[in-house]
Amino acid sequence: MEETRIIDFSETYEDLGQALPAGTELLGGKFKIDEQVGSGGFGITYLAKDIYLDRAVVIKECFPEAFCCRFGAQVRVTSDRYAAQHRKSVDMFMLEARSIAKLRHPNIVGVHQVFEENETAYMVLDLIDGRDLLDIIEDDSDPLSPDQVRDILVKTLDAIDLIHRNDLLHRDISPDNILLDKWGSPSLIDFGAAREDASKKSNDVTTMLMVKDGYSPHEFYIAGGQQQPCSDLYALGATIYHLISGETPPNSQERVAALTNNDHDPYLPLAGRFAHYESAFLEAIDKSLSVPPKDRIASAKGWLSLIETESKKVKMVKMPEGRMVSKTLSELVHETNKHVLKASDKPRAQPVQAVTSVPQQESYRPEWVDEFNRETTEAELRKQEQNRALAEAHRREELEREAIAELEEAERQLLAREAEKPRNILEWVSLKRTG
Ligand SMILES: Nc1ncnc2c1ncn2[C@@H]1O[C@H](COP(=O)(O)OP(=O)(O)O)[C@@H](O)[C@H]1O
Ligand SMILES: [Mg+2]
Repeated sequence: MEETRIIDFSETYEDLGQALPAGTELLGGKFKIDEQVGSGGFGITYLAKDIYLDRAVVIKECFPEAFCCRFGAQVRVTSDRYAAQHRKSVDMFMLEARSIAKLRHPNIVGVHQVFEENETAYMVLDLIDGRDLLDIIEDDSDPLSPDQVRDILVKTLDAIDLIHRNDLLHRDISPDNILLDKWGSPSLIDFGAAREDASKKSNDVTTMLMVKDGYSPHEFYIAGGQQQPCSDLYALGATIYHLISGETPPNSQERVAALTNNDHDPYLPLAGRFAHYESAFLEAIDKSLSVPPKDRIASAKGWLSLIETESKKVKMVKMPEGRMVSKTLSELVHETNKHVLKASDKPRAQPVQAVTSVPQQESYRPEWVDEFNRETTEAELRKQEQNRALAEAHRREELEREAIAELEEAERQLLAREAEKPRNILEWVSLKRTG
């Protein structure tokens, strides 16, 4: 008879002491386990070291705790009747690693190795040096700004778009599966549930339903429930809802129960409650969290375009009302001219000082004013230089004219004297007589 088990990821799993001890070597000594950092229903996560490359990595071990136990370093089934299921889990784990490897995206954790050992499988992931969103929510001392929340949503949507375009669903999007690196960029981790989706299609005796109250849409609680891209988007909406409001949305099963009883949906919308966010941004999150899948946002791209449309609207609204850009420019020119005019009032003998000695105000002075002043000063100096050259040319012309006039005068006098001289001996005798 088919059995359905609901595994609640939101419960804290008690440490069953099943983890590999620190110092355990894998893949012939290439990797060394440092410590366990997580343990879900299907695997154990370790901080480890890549010995050859001398760097820290994260290693996930396939460990379906429902039917496996540790025997030395090996992972064994608790009963032979689970052997096929364990084999299937290992195959699916390998498939998960290959799926993530295909999803090369800056906001999806990078996987760089997968191998079988200890009768189970391991995948080696890039270590993301940072904190998960749940840590950040719980740490009141350092809340995220609306811009940071928006950035996280936009980048995660882009990553989810790639997952969906590869015909995969993540199926476990929640604050503890989104890590923020030290630059504040998000990385989506933990594709374990995506792998289990494939195993659901087999004729296994046990169907595992993986849910996280508050984040999982109601279809995740139903064996055979139709899971689609908007199911992941519901979980992302719930994650961002938690970031903004500090609370998880109500369990989707409670919401369904209330709606089917014609009671009020216990969901409290974000829109209208958080003034620091654009209202359309909040409305989109509320929409992603609709109970009926048909009322939700259908695709990650659709959600992104809703956000972008809103930003464009806001940019237009922020333009000064009834004012043209040219008006603003003419104001800039006016302001510049004021500085330049002040500068040109100063004595021309010290033009450079004149411009730079514009009274230095304590208040903010835009950089372009200095730039403008410098260019204006240079132009002024160039003009003065040209004027000086022109005056010199005029002076030289004047001197030439004077020299020519003097020469002409000398010539004229010479000619006059020549004219007065006797031209022959008879004239000379008559002049002597008259004189
Ligand atoms: N690549 C990684 N870099 C840094 N920490 C990681 C990484 N992958 C997992 N972790 C840490 O280990 C925890 C458990 O890993 P996860 O893949 O979510 O497995 P599960 O939730 O099934 O135990 C995460 O919440 C995170 O704190
Ligand atoms: Mg996890």
